[in-house]
Amino acid sequence: MEELRIGILGFGTVGRGVVTMLQEHGDEIIKRSGVRLRLVRIATRTPSRDRGVDLGDVELTNDVYRVVNGDDIDVVVELIGGYDPAEALVRDALNSGKHVVTANKALIAERGVGLLDLAANKGLELSFEAAVAGAVPIVKAMKESLAADPVERIYGILNGTCNYILTEMREKGLSFESVLADAQEKGFAEADPTFDVEGIDAAHKLAILAAIAFGTPPNFSGIHIEGINHISDVDIAWAMEMGYRIKLLGIAKRLEGGVELRVQPTLVPESSMVASVEGVFNSVFVRSAYAGTTMYHGRGAGEKPTASAVVADLLEIARNQSAGAKCRVAGLSVLTKHLKPLPVLDMAELSGEYYLRLAVLDRPGVLADVTTVLARYDISIDAIRQKGRSQKDAVPLVIVTHKTTEQRIQSGLKALEALESVREKPRFIRIETGFA
Ligand code: HSE
Repeated sequence: MEELRIGILGFGTVGRGVVTMLQEHGDEIIKRSGVRLRLVRIATRTPSRDRGVDLGDVELTNDVYRVVNGDDIDVVVELIGGYDPAEALVRDALNSGKHVVTANKALIAERGVGLLDLAANKGLELSFEAAVAGAVPIVKAMKESLAADPVERIYGILNGTCNYILTEMREKGLSFESVLADAQEKGFAEADPTFDVEGIDAAHKLAILAAIAFGTPPNFSGIHIEGINHISDVDIAWAMEMGYRIKLLGIAKRLEGGVELRVQPTLVPESSMVASVEGVFNSVFVRSAYAGTTMYHGRGAGEKPTASAVVADLLEIARNQSAGAKCRVAGLSVLTKHLKPLPVLDMAELSGEYYLRLAVLDRPGVLADVTTVLARYDISIDAIRQKGRSQKDAVPLVIVTHKTTEQRIQSGLKALEALESVREKPRFIRIETGFA
């Protein structure tokens, strides 16, 4: 029987999931392609560590080049992550004529174009479904099911760790720090959660999705990135009171003159579907010209969900092999020679609604001072709430604005901060409502 011979780089959680899936479902998978997916070799720095899986005749090695250059390997699965040595190894694997499947979002988002170009020139696949939202089949959906449809905007909950933290903060009324510490203890959050909580992981995924959507090279450095580390339980409670939830969203929009690319905590109406995505789940909403809005939801991380995406990519390579097809679908959907950068619109040009939270002195005339400043910057108020009474301490004043521009908000906030009655730097969070 025809075979696709597989070598894996890295034997962590996802590697174990891939081994298990091939063992448990290998025979079923053959029925989908007529090709056996045969795991030949795994390279790991710790070959002697017990992973609790029976490897049979699969070779374990600490020499990555036995995978990357091995004559008995057709496809290399890169599960090391990061840039170095992953980039060099993927390049070497392609140069030695092997297809590559990777779960490495940083690599595709920041160094992907050169590698995809190399793969295409060599008639090889470089597949990365697992890199974006784990098991959620968003890459394939955009490259194939929506391939003909101009995408107008993407909204994504692209990081399970952040969504879990925000969900716990809301449900239990806890602070960011205490939920993060608990999540780390339970193993839901990485020991070093920087990439997750600062929005970098979500931005890598957004860069890839926006590239596929808009026919551009991935533009990670063009994304405006804000994490969730400055979100307080106070804002989460106020958001609820005003009819919203706070989500870390990746947002990509194709607008006249360019694209809007941002990852940021966002208030979303509690009645919207995106608001109901809770815990570790990921969800992507794509609005395209003909299909309208489509939604993709599922588990964005973990052993089995990520393995499902990796093995599906392997199966696709097997199918192409048995059909004699080469590079049937370009890595980013649009052929690399047709990828064209688009200007990223300045955040100052952004237009939307805003949530503002001020700490103000509780005395007559303060509300008038605040609204006068907002009026001066042509910022119209949709709702305003003040709570509590205090003779000496500041009390919270929360405002939801009508549509305005980021520029006006930034100038207005500066002017508000200068008021004697405003006691702390005002907080602001952007609001998104256009999910239909
Ligand atoms: N750490 C990511 C998350 C998964 O929490 O969603 C891998 O990108």
